[in-house]
Amino acid sequence: MHLFAALALLLPSTLAHTSPKNDWSTAYKQARHYISQFTLEEKVNITTGVGWENGHCVGNIPAMSRIGFPGICLDDSPVGVRFADRVSAFPAGINAAATFDRNLIRERAKAMGAEFYGKGVHVALGPMMNMGRVAEAGRNWEGFGGDPFLTGEAAYETIIGIQSQGVQACAKHYINNEQEHNRTTSSSIVDDRFQHEVYAHPFLRSVAAGVTSVMCSYINGTWACESDKMLNDVLKYQMGFKGYVMSDWSAHHSTMAAMAGLDMSMPGDITFSSGDSYFGANLTQFVRDGKIPESQVDDMVTRILAGWFLLGQNTKTYPKVSFDAFRANDPVQKHIDVQGDHYKTIRKIGAASTVLLKNTNKTLPLKKPISIALIGSDAGPSYNGPNGFSDLGGDVGTLALGWGEHHLEDTARYPYLISPLEAIQARARKDHTSMSWYLDDFNTAQASSTAASAEVAIVFINSDSGEDYITVDGNQGDRNNLTAWHEGDNLVLAVAAKNKNTVVVVHSVGPLILEPWIEHENITAVLWAGLPGQESGNSLVDVLYGAWNPSGRLPYTIAKDASDYPASIIDDSLDIPYTEGLEIDYRHFDANDITPRFEFGFGLSYTNFKYARLRVSKIGADTGAAEKKWVAGQVFSHKKGASLDEWLHRPYYSITFDVTNTGSVYGTEIPQLYLNPPTSANSPPSILRGFASVPLDPGQTRTVEITVSRYDLSVWDVVQQGWIKPSGTYNLFIGSSSRNKKLEGRLA
Ligand SMILES: *[C@@H]1O[C@H](CO)[C@@H](O)[C@H](O)[C@H]1NC(C)=O
Ligand SMILES: *[C@@H]1O[C@H](CO)[C@@H](O)[C@H](O)[C@H]1NC(C)=O
Ligand SMILES: *[C@@H]1O[C@H](CO)[C@@H](O)[C@H](O)[C@H]1NC(C)=O
Ligand SMILES: *[C@@H]1O[C@H](CO)[C@@H](O)[C@H](O)[C@H]1NC(C)=O
Ligand SMILES: *[C@@H]1O[C@H](CO)[C@@H](O)[C@H](O)[C@H]1NC(C)=O
Ligand SMILES: *[C@@H]1O[C@H](CO)[C@@H](O)[C@H](O)[C@H]1NC(C)=O
Ligand SMILES: *[C@@H]1O[C@H](CO)[C@@H](O)[C@H](O)[C@H]1NC(C)=O
Repeated sequence: MHLFAALALLLPSTLAHTSPKNDWSTAYKQARHYISQFTLEEKVNITTGVGWENGHCVGNIPAMSRIGFPGICLDDSPVGVRFADRVSAFPAGINAAATFDRNLIRERAKAMGAEFYGKGVHVALGPMMNMGRVAEAGRNWEGFGGDPFLTGEAAYETIIGIQSQGVQACAKHYINNEQEHNRTTSSSIVDDRFQHEVYAHPFLRSVAAGVTSVMCSYINGTWACESDKMLNDVLKYQMGFKGYVMSDWSAHHSTMAAMAGLDMSMPGDITFSSGDSYFGANLTQFVRDGKIPESQVDDMVTRILAGWFLLGQNTKTYPKVSFDAFRANDPVQKHIDVQGDHYKTIRKIGAASTVLLKNTNKTLPLKKPISIALIGSDAGPSYNGPNGFSDLGGDVGTLALGWGEHHLEDTARYPYLISPLEAIQARARKDHTSMSWYLDDFNTAQASSTAASAEVAIVFINSDSGEDYITVDGNQGDRNNLTAWHEGDNLVLAVAAKNKNTVVVVHSVGPLILEPWIEHENITAVLWAGLPGQESGNSLVDVLYGAWNPSGRLPYTIAKDASDYPASIIDDSLDIPYTEGLEIDYRHFDANDITPRFEFGFGLSYTNFKYARLRVSKIGADTGAAEKKWVAGQVFSHKKGASLDEWLHRPYYSITFDVTNTGSVYGTEIPQLYLNPPTSANSPPSILRGFASVPLDPGQTRTVEITVSRYDLSVWDVVQQGWIKPSGTYNLFIGSSSRNKKLEGRLA
């Protein structure tokens, strides 16, 4: 722990040196050489999935024996291998982000990658990196929160982690898939600048990480999967993306999409099981008719096979697919156990992502209380088991993941789910603590009388969401509101009325309005546990009892009122204008002087930290012509890949400062760097541009370095179509959150 975290401090957020086994130019050569022996039909087959449920995986490129091609298996999800058994259920992406710890984010991805590899999957369909533009949006929990920089860093680490195991990652959903309602018909209307600085940024970081595939979204207007602008121009040209673009399942709308930059049709057929395809025989015919040049198909196939070669998937040792997503009794099923000791990583991330929001009178950590009452259905197991609902589409018992295609169905499932009740009882046995519980959310009289005489009452509430194809309690993917489910606020209030030491634990897909009780005198502590995955209860016990000193930070803002957020779900129109521009999440609260309940980046610890000795120095060498133009507010180059040019991304300023643990217990602080752009930039007041995870013994001081690049100081110029420096000076602060400034300075 100590060692890894210390090393991380020395690593600026540099560009990727991509694959462990190969590099793109060799991979391209190998791909070109290989396809020189393909017929047109064979090439087209590499671009076309075999059709829904026609292969072992969620998506399949067919094997072709003449050319010795073994086929490609694509499988969900961002939290583990979907449709396979003996796999782990990892913490959600939003929890990975809440750790603000690059090492842990990568560790999670490595473990997930190892599981995909072990099952013979070639392409893991994640990470998901949509932005949390709307607090209620159903899939936000799969992603990394409400800030593009944090999302970009989490995407980068996740991709490196997955691909380090030889498995291709898939950056999704490109682009603007920011709500579930009408996601296959609506148009997101986004200004070019906001597109580049907010929504495309995590994809830029994905390309920097060497991601081999990108999934285009369902979004309409110009369909995301046939947007020449977004695919050819922004992704493949400006960012220099060398991999391939696949369609989201059924997001493919025409054969000519090939010319707009779509390389692979998934699952291949036009509608599920239709048997026909926009690619397949249609693509072959379009080439024969001269509507699409064969060189375009060559480029598509080269991109697809380059990813396969890049990660060494052409080798004989790559595991064969050993599960079937749709047929439990298919002979291919080998039930291979790929879980390793990943439960340890899952437990650690569950703890490291738990955010301590309130802790008066040092209520936490618990010290062998004489008695504990656990209140609420979220404390215990579901009556019908951890996998009692198809695709987890139900909110009964403790919540540890949202619903949707991300996870496990029928033959495959949570391997187990440790509930808080189970884990806290195990601890009670050790401490000789008397336990009582009441798990009905609605009988508040009985709940409060159960809680009244306990030394500490812990009330559990939750809030769920997921993909649009499942509706739970009237919530069609997106949440209908930002209040606790099952009348959770009433339950909390009933317990707090009777117990002076009430702790609230929240399992939620995203922000909730906590105003009905957050300032209640009897509510002494609040833990925000998000969606911790299969080790949920154990992770919570680690935090409750102080084995893990809380270091999680909110990856989004918790408002005082739902109307304080900049955007909401639109379902009375298919046009979704992104009128808030750059001001999503905390940027909106800052710009409009709205006081949130808990700001982005907030989280308490069991110890205290002191910040000192801010030093800022310019370290980037002058880059000559590039520097001159950039400083003058001009775009240096429009060449392919210019948005990832080395001179733009190398460290330019070094910001160092000291952090000291002034308390009496070991703990990890998460210092955050926010820039305040000059007014000429027309940017939000503060933007996150760096963070670190700093473990400290009591009394220990460490010097932390965060670097920023020219890119970090740039804005996207829509007229010149490139990154420029706005005139004027950047101020900055180091904060323990987006609002708690510890040290202030400027880049000069
Ligand atoms: C292309 O793939 C299909 C299965 O999707 C297969 O039936 C066909 O034989 C393949 N064509 C060639 C030329 O290999
Ligand atoms: C997609 O968007 C276009 C242009 O805005 C519109 O004409 C079309 O009706 C939309 N398609 C669907 C299925 O909503
Ligand atoms: C070709 O595409 C059209 C739609 O443009 C579709 O109706 C047809 O079935 C496709 N043909 C094949 C052979 O898949
Ligand atoms: C708990 O803290 C509150 C305010 O933070 C204080 O008023 C109260 O006296 C404390 N109670 C105990 C038992 O220490
Ligand atoms: C919010 O939605 C949840 C889930 O459907 C529901 O249980 C709750 O009652 C709703 N809250 C309000 C205030 O309507
Ligand atoms: C706090 O709890 C005590 C009982 O332990 C109760 O008398 C008091 O009314 C509670 N405070 C509030 C604001 O409900
Ligand atoms: C959007 O989706 C919702 C829910 O499916 C539906 O009720 C509504 O009519 C749709 N809106 C439009 C403008 O089509």
